[in-house]
Amino acid sequence: MGRFVVFEGGEGSGKSTQARLLAERWGAVLTFEPGGTEVGQRLREILLSPETGDLDPRAEALLMAADRAHHVATKIRPALNRGKDVVCDRFVGSSLAYQGYARGLGIEEVRALSTFATDGLVPDLVLLLVVPPDEAVTRMAAAGKPDRLEAAGEEFHRKVAEAYVILAAHDPDRWVVIDGSGSVEDVEARVREAVEARLPSGERA
Ligand code: TMP
Repeated sequence: MGRFVVFEGGEGSGKSTQARLLAERWGAVLTFEPGGTEVGQRLREILLSPETGDLDPRAEALLMAADRAHHVATKIRPALNRGKDVVCDRFVGSSLAYQGYARGLGIEEVRALSTFATDGLVPDLVLLLVVPPDEAVTRMAAAGKPDRLEAAGEEFHRKVAEAYVILAAHDPDRWVVIDGSGSVEDVEARVREAVEARLPSGERA
């Protein structure tokens, strides 16, 4: 089995860049949610396009879960079974933070849904990148027009950040909190250190 590492964080946390850098260093499969498969791309369009407008929170959670189920079954698990390492930009933690906590569906309810979707697959390590809110806003603004969730408002995103801290505190064996402020190189060095500490064979490649 390959190693399965997930990056989590709010908008503008720099996790996509760091996921790519780690995957390049390891020669791992790099993937993301929602949208890591062809079917997932179609779900991502529905989930994130501002044209979708209001989506019932349960429908949103179920579409995220549908994306994840297909992603795990057709891409992540097959790669891990082939012995490939997989680095994923967002996973179950995003559903717990965004739908479970910020949308108010309940973390445990959404966890049950995610467990069904993943058929029990859990990451070996979750790296949570945390940046001060003003830095995240600056990075988000630079990324262009906000998608449906980015546009959900300050209070929503404050709750997402709060949820992540709670999730990391409740599962310290699996989650590591990383300071995502500063340059890409600074953050990469912190990621590298955390990965080496948690997955000691991590730099074998
Ligand atoms: P991205 O822009 O980092 O690719 O993330 C897509 C958006 O989808 C982001 O706003 C977080 C959100 N999201 C959820 O709300 N729940 C989920 O389960 C996932 C995977 C993403």
